[in-house]
Amino acid sequence: MSHAPYPYSDPEIEALWRVLRERRDMRHFAPVEEAEPLPEGFVRRLVEAARLAPSVGFMQPWRFIRVTDAELRQKMHALVEAERLATAAALPSRREEFLGVKIEGIRECAELLVVALMPGREKHLIGRRLLPEMDVASIGCAIQNMWLAARAEGIGLGWVSFFDPEELARLLALPAGARPLGILCIGRVSAFYPRPMFEDAGWGRRLDVDDVLFENRWPEGAKGTPTAY
Ligand SMILES: Cc1cc2nc3c(=O)[nH]c(=O)nc-3n(C[C@H](O)[C@H](O)[C@H](O)COP(=O)(O)O)c2cc1C
Repeated sequence: MSHAPYPYSDPEIEALWRVLRERRDMRHFAPVEEAEPLPEGFVRRLVEAARLAPSVGFMQPWRFIRVTDAELRQKMHALVEAERLATAAALPSRREEFLGVKIEGIRECAELLVVALMPGREKHLIGRRLLPEMDVASIGCAIQNMWLAARAEGIGLGWVSFFDPEELARLLALPAGARPLGILCIGRVSAFYPRPMFEDAGWGRRLDVDDVLFENRWPEGAKGTPTAY
């Protein structure tokens, strides 16, 4: 059945913009022992939000692994810590400052989900014959849906991408061709950051519309990224 193209009501539109504005990448989680458990069926609901996302050629490349094994969680944390230190060592400056920024909440969060690209993606040509990375873009859409659904229920979600994908693939016994793209930390938070944590830490600011919207061609003298370290 088709839906008439009526606009949503003003409060519905406001709710949409509210969640867009108030979604945050979260790294601080309330201690699991003290916090209320996650709402009933929450993880399945997040995956339901993900499966409603658009995907190139409708390939639905996302797969999710729920990590419930404490030892595996610990190993994943070690992997992320190693990459955090390697990233700091590779920075041209501000290494110590970077090391002071919290970039994950793997040990504290209530639920841990790994998002991976499925194997066999080379068979899917529609929309990605010359742009194979559209599978990655589709994963981004799915995770954004999860982020928004979580925020609407007052639950924090953080996307962690500091890891060696080969090593994480090995830890999780991923088949050849599959590729992990995110470790999602999910849990209750005592408050959502009012601004991106990176912004507060002086690692950039949210660009304005006029910084990123051009007409007909790339303008001469357009700024690249204003972030410098
Ligand atoms: C693909 C992707 C990977 C990310 N990886 C990390 C990460 O490993 N650690 C982290 O602290 N934040 C990570 N983030 C979150 C960004 O730092 C965050 O989105 C950005 O600073 C803006 O903040 P906001 O999401 O709260 O608006 C990631 C975000 C995306 C989209």
